Amino acid sequence: MKKLLIFTVMASLCISCKAQDIALPQPQKTGGKPLMEALSDRQTTREYSDKELDEQTLSDLLWAAYGFNRDDKRTVPSANNKQEFILYVVLKSGVYVYDAKENTLTQKVKGDFRSKTGNQGVVAVAPLNLVFVADLTKNDIEGATVNVGYISQNVYLYCASAGLGTVVRGWFDKAEVKAALQLSETEAPVLTQTVGYKK
Ligand SMILES: Cc1cc2nc3c(=O)[nH]c(=O)nc-3n(C[C@H](O)[C@H](O)[C@H](O)COP(=O)(O)O)c2cc1C
Repeated sequence: MKKLLIFTVMASLCISCKAQDIALPQPQKTGGKPLMEALSDRQTTREYSDKELDEQTLSDLLWAAYGFNRDDKRTVPSANNKQEFILYVVLKSGVYVYDAKENTLTQKVKGDFRSKTGNQGVVAVAPLNLVFVADLTKNDIEGATVNVGYISQNVYLYCASAGLGTVVRGWFDKAEVKAALQLSETEAPVLTQTVGYKK
């Protein structure tokens, strides 16, 4: 009876999850460094260890980057509230899309495509690369190029607060990323960003 109850609760928590999706723990919205200390520590890091990020850290990072902090509004502003970005999460195990409402990573492609997210060696060493993909049915590329900065800076500040390293990247092969992430005609990768433990 107890086992059946545990199974039912687990199944209902992840009703629409496929086996390969990752249901993240709830983000922790308290703690971290005070803002002025995080700003003091914000910097770009280009050398990483291959240590994995745990799921709590991943959840907190993604929420800081692009989660909802009100019913339909996010931790970042966007001009005319377009919210045109799709956050792609590239891990060793595959390519995922961050579903901020469900707090889930939905697997899109299986396999390790980290090396496709930039022209610098670190991309294949660090555990996580984010790809900020603009949905061009919601905004044009000029607007998206402004809005992306807020998401990237939230990642920088979270990393400064959590003692992680990060580097945002404009230097990547857009066609290669589009192919690896199996993007549609109306999805444009704008920037990529590596996150991991500093070496
Ligand atoms: C839009 C943008 C694109 C960037 N592209 C790259 C890049 O392709 N490769 C890289 O190593 N750093 C890249 N950077 C990081 C900058 O080189 C870095 O922010 C700058 O040198 C200042 O260092 P700091 O972030 O430690 O203050 C980029 C930064 C921005 C804002």
